[in-house]
Amino acid sequence: MGMLDHWNVVGPSGMVRAKPVAVTVAGQAICLFRTSSGRPAAVDDACPHRRLKLSVGRVVGDKVECKYHGWTFDACGEGESPGTPKLNACTTSYDVRDHEGLLWLKSRRSDPAFPDLNPAGDYPIGHYHYVVPAPLEVTLDNFCEIEHTGTVHESFGYDIERMHEVRVRFEPTDTTVRVVNVGPTKRMGRLSAWALGVTNDYDFHDDWTTHFSPLYTVYDHWWTSPDGKRESKIRWRFYIFFTPITATTTAVHSIVYGRSTWPGPTNSLSWGKYILGRVMDREMKADVAMLGHLADYSPRIDGMKLSRFDKVLGLNRDRIARIYRGEASPRVSLVG
Ligand code: FES
Ligand SMILES: [Fe+2]
Repeated sequence: MGMLDHWNVVGPSGMVRAKPVAVTVAGQAICLFRTSSGRPAAVDDACPHRRLKLSVGRVVGDKVECKYHGWTFDACGEGESPGTPKLNACTTSYDVRDHEGLLWLKSRRSDPAFPDLNPAGDYPIGHYHYVVPAPLEVTLDNFCEIEHTGTVHESFGYDIERMHEVRVRFEPTDTTVRVVNVGPTKRMGRLSAWALGVTNDYDFHDDWTTHFSPLYTVYDHWWTSPDGKRESKIRWRFYIFFTPITATTTAVHSIVYGRSTWPGPTNSLSWGKYILGRVMDREMKADVAMLGHLADYSPRIDGMKLSRFDKVLGLNRDRIARIYRGEASPRVSLVG
């Protein structure tokens, strides 16, 4: 399977309304549109006639109409030329789905399982979308180690002075990589500590699993008291979907859910949603900004001086190459 053969997230469902929209997935330019009944559809963003971008056209009924000479294409890519009705004018179309407020897309030639999000019992906090100026592997590297939480993040992570006490465990399978981290929490302001129900001697847990068809990671964050008997009043689970736009840029789409033991109909998460959403957005932006400052964007890891937290870089690369890119062997070094 190639990259387009997985159910990739391309953006929020609301990004496509009455007008066609241009997106690029794994270097392929694609025109997204909604038929008159609201069903999402996608075709190559190049008219097979004289290659105008279909995304600059308009939707007419169940079809997208090319702005240049008025040829029309339906959700299956079947085309019609008003001036040459007998001409076979088909183009490539894609499977598209709305799910959990996101638009998902894949080629028609594959039949992969749809990702199992299963946020049952969790309260939806929000969706966040970013474009990172880095290749897929390099982007994932940032989101799969916790050493940077000591410096990059304000709201969660580990105290940089006690980073050496953080325990990290890797649990790879053939198709997933789980990383479990626990250690002394970063110091928190009084208000945050009260809202979360923690004190500065608590341990922070960051437990995530990366999947590779499509490429996404599911994170759980929570805190426990030093004796392990009490848990924070709030914990959250977030999903990050990594979709390559080109070889050098990656889209990062995140959905965040919360769980709380505070009183109230939504365990007070309905009023805490705005603040929690702001915090998650700020922290994600901090990651994206850091990725903008790398001196080298090569996805190769040989030559890097890797730490004990970085074993995951090689584990991920093996599975990205084998499962997500569908390559016989990793095209990047697995040193580490
Ligand atoms: S280029 Fe699209 S109809 Fe001619
Ligand atoms: Fe981060």
